[in-house]
Order: sequence, then C-alpha cells, then structure tokens
Amino acid sequence: MKGIVLAGGLGSRLYPLTKVTNKHLLPVYNEPMIYYPIKTLVNAGIDEILIVTGGNNAGEFLRLLGNGKDFGLKHLNYTYQEGEGGIAAALSLAEFFADNGKIVVVLGDNIIEKNIRKAVETYQKQKEGARIMLKEVPDPQRFGVPVFEGDHIVRVEEKPAKPKSKYAVIGIYMYDERVFDFIKTLKPSQRGELEITDVNNFYIEEGKMEWDILDGWWTDAGTFESLQYAGNMVAKTGANNI
Ligand code: G1P
Repeated sequence: MKGIVLAGGLGSRLYPLTKVTNKHLLPVYNEPMIYYPIKTLVNAGIDEILIVTGGNNAGEFLRLLGNGKDFGLKHLNYTYQEGEGGIAAALSLAEFFADNGKIVVVLGDNIIEKNIRKAVETYQKQKEGARIMLKEVPDPQRFGVPVFEGDHIVRVEEKPAKPKSKYAVIGIYMYDERVFDFIKTLKPSQRGELEITDVNNFYIEEGKMEWDILDGWWTDAGTFESLQYAGNMVAKTGANNI
C-alpha cells in the first residue's frame, strides 16, 4: 500500500509562526513536525510515500527531507497544492500516485505515541471501502466526531457544537480507489474547504466504513495550544514508538 502525507495549507492558525515558514516545518520538541507523520507511515511498513506540500516555502521540504534517507527510504515523492482548498482538495492531487490502489493518508500535523501497523494490516485484508481511527478526547468539538448507533458509525460531524460522542476522528485515513471519485463530487463547506469528513460520510452511507481505536496518545499540532502539547508529549514519551 502507498502512503500520503498532507502538508499543504497556509497554517493561518499559527500566524506569525507561519509567516516565513510552513507549519509542517516548525519544531515539535526535537524534530520538524513533518518527520512524525512520515514515521507513522514508515513504521506501518509503508515505503512508497507522497508528500503534498504547499504555501510559500515548499522548496524547504526538499532541502529537509531529500529522498527520505533519514527514514530508511530510497525515494520520496512530492506534489504541490496551490492555495488552501482543504484536506480533500490536497488529497485529490494524489490520484495519479495512488494509481487505483489502496492508500493510507496522514495529516502532516498529526502525531501519535505508538504505531498503526495493526490497523494498516487489517485494512490490507479489508476487501473494499475505508477505515478511520478514533481517539477519546476531552474536546471533541474541535474535530470530526463520529455519531454511533450501537457500535456502528452512522455519520461523522465536523466540529459539532454539541458532540454526540467523546471521540475524535483522527487524521489517519485508509481509502480504496473510489475516494477520488467521491472527492470530485464535493462542494466547499462553510469554511470554504473540501472536507475530509464529507468523504468519510460517503463511505459510511454505503456501509463501507470500518474503524479502530488508536492505542497511545494522539494530538494535532495546528494551534498554539496543541503545538505546545505535542512538544511536551514527545519530550515525555517519545513519538512513533514501535
Ligand atoms: C481536520 C479534520 C477533522 C479531523 C482533524 C484531525 O481538522 O477536518 O475532521 O478530526 O483534522 O486533526 P482541521 O485540522 O482541518 O481543523
């Protein structure tokens, strides 16, 4: 299976930290943010990786990552997202790379304590559809939140004022080749973006969405608070532990 790291966008929630550099190049404790999602994929056994970058400093990703030698890779692939169209818009740039195969997508600001190898192996055996990962959080209203009937997810709500469960849909998604057809039918949300939550709801409506609970801590690092939290957690336990 191939992996995609979505590291586009302008990082406006972190301004002025993102005035002269990209969000995903900022430090999280002792490494640049983008190292963590790359390690998430590599630790799950994925070595064909596409980085979707964007913004004003995309060239710095090449200088930083090169061909991925620091991660034991022989090669890294890159593509460029113009403007800020949302996560699903960034993902649509990966269609050529996915080449009708299954993919694992990681948001470039999502950091995990442990690894997702088991979930990825389970998805490899899953005949079709998609797979998302959930984590119980104190502030689900900041994220995509699953709505359950029994242990069945009936939809995901993006940043609901009144969350219907205590879980966040974390930024690690597994999709089959149909994801790109779904994205083509999306309309921008109220925040003007093509939402990954709408993509997930397509799969849910078709009864083709599976889910796992993530083991260990998870955080995004896209706000001042979460960036600091991420640094503290990495300092305490390390990240991407095998
Ligand atoms: C995005 C997704 C959201 C998901 C989150 C995980 O939110 O829209 O569903 O829970 O990533 O980090 P954003 O970072 O765009 O606010």
